Amino acid sequence: MKFSNFYLLDNSLVKNKVSLIRDKNCSVSQFRNLVKDLSIFLCYEACKDLKLEVSKIETPLEETDGFSFGPICFVAVLRAGLGMVPGALECVPDASVGNIGMFRNEETLRPVRYYCNLPKNISKGHVFILDPMLATGGSICDAIDVVKEHNVTDVTCLCLISAPEGIKKVNEKHPDVKIYSASLDRELNSKGYIMPGLGDAGDRIFGTL
Ligand code: PRP
Ligand code: URA
Repeated sequence: MKFSNFYLLDNSLVKNKVSLIRDKNCSVSQFRNLVKDLSIFLCYEACKDLKLEVSKIETPLEETDGFSFGPICFVAVLRAGLGMVPGALECVPDASVGNIGMFRNEETLRPVRYYCNLPKNISKGHVFILDPMLATGGSICDAIDVVKEHNVTDVTCLCLISAPEGIKKVNEKHPDVKIYSASLDRELNSKGYIMPGLGDAGDRIFGTL
């Protein structure tokens, strides 16, 4: 299947950690640590295209070019996206963090929004939406709508596991948005779960199984 703006991490370390996180016997603490590690890799990879500003800096020996980038905001899609915040902040410690609360209605699979708190100056920089699971794509498309309503123009999504159905939806509704993912899975099952997937990410991160 052909997707646009979809970047799959192609790395043995990532593949191994995705296998560990899928394992149903993975403990809560292992799961949280793996989410953190994979979020670091995703963020590192997704930052490779950030626009840089160049200025002069002084080493102890001479003047040379120094590079910096504009403000970054990580937007976690609650609950499960919260698990990705520590890894993202490990990469960009000065980033601001916004939160959008939503859950999927289990029958319709449509997202239900219950909370939104975004930094006032969010439109000034690049936004990375953090949500481990891209299933039907309903939740992440809604989160993208919310940040775009706040005049954000540069949006990238970081996901641990993506289903073809969800990627297709993001491509159709938000062709300008890039998705970085640690895995591309086969399909959704009849209940909207990603197969083979890892089950309910929120329950596994928060130990609420
Ligand atoms: C999960 C996940 C995504 C959403 C993906 O959240 O974290 O936000 O499902 O599904 P979609 O692509 O079909 O919209 P969930 O509704 O389980 O809420 P939770 O994070 O609070 O557990
Ligand atoms: N949300 C999850 O947590 N897991 C899935 O497989 C699909 C949606």
